[in-house]
Amino acid sequence: MSYRHVSRELLVGTVTVGVVFVVGYFLGKKKASRMSISKSHCRGKDNPLIQYVLSHSMREHPALTKLRLRTMEDSWAGMMVAQEQSQLMANLAKLIQAKKAIEIGVYTGYNTLSIALALPEDGKVVACDIREEYPKIGMPFWKEAGVESKIDLRIQPALQTLDDLLSSGQAETFDFVFIDADKVSYDSYYEKSLQLLRKGGIIAIDNVLWGGRVLDPSPDDADTVAIDKLNKKLHRDVRINLSMITVGDGLTLAIKL
Ligand SMILES: C[S@@+](CC[C@H](N)C(=O)[O-])C[C@H]1O[C@@H](n2cnc3c(N)ncnc32)[C@H](O)[C@@H]1O
Ligand SMILES: *[C@@H]1O[C@H](CO)[C@@H](O)[C@H](O)[C@H]1NC(C)=O
Repeated sequence: MSYRHVSRELLVGTVTVGVVFVVGYFLGKKKASRMSISKSHCRGKDNPLIQYVLSHSMREHPALTKLRLRTMEDSWAGMMVAQEQSQLMANLAKLIQAKKAIEIGVYTGYNTLSIALALPEDGKVVACDIREEYPKIGMPFWKEAGVESKIDLRIQPALQTLDDLLSSGQAETFDFVFIDADKVSYDSYYEKSLQLLRKGGIIAIDNVLWGGRVLDPSPDDADTVAIDKLNKKLHRDVRINLSMITVGDGLTLAIKL
């Protein structure tokens, strides 16, 4: 074997190892980025199993369908709750015979409408958002479904609305709360909601897997830090029983003991 032969084999070997390493790196990256579940109208659109879930379980009210399709025209449609998650929460609200609910983060009001439809005639959902233009998109559909009188929309920071409810003597009177607004305030929303909730009531918390970013060992953004911190706190919280559900972007259900 000549010297030239050895060096050529060495070169081929080195290049092969290099290629394998680079391909492995990108495959690994691809796998990591898939380490999340998704809403049926976001990445779940390309997932046949999620589409199977929809076609074998959704019983969407016609006004909800129209509002969902209208919301899909908005550039922030990714914020909308997944229909399969919304239906789960409506079923839970019915199961516990909820009469009073709170929606923290309304956007175009898909879930607000869904929960209003699940409440009895004299039920109420306090709907909190800081922007008026989004709920305005949903209002005609609330009206069409005949439930607009059950929806008490309050345009101001949600923390203010929760404080208003507490100071008007409504502690321990609510049955169901959905937390789905700014992530850094999640812990405050949770604490105030827990005060407003009756025993056996449910707090549903959205985006608890945050697109898989909760797996990041050293997250550098405030939202991921806040969500992961709250997830850890809830796991230890003796005031509730809980389930973390792999639907949409991750949903925690906390039942007040
Ligand atoms: C993810 S979207 C809510 C989606 C909605 N639950 C649904 O069913 O489609 C979050 C909403 O929270 C609102 N928001 C952000 N910060 C807020 C705050 N401090 N108080 C109240 N609402 C807030 C935003 O304007 C936005 O409409
Ligand atoms: C809460 O969880 C504990 C432990 O799993 C269980 O024993 C208890 O019955 C649960 N309470 C309620 C109200 O579900």
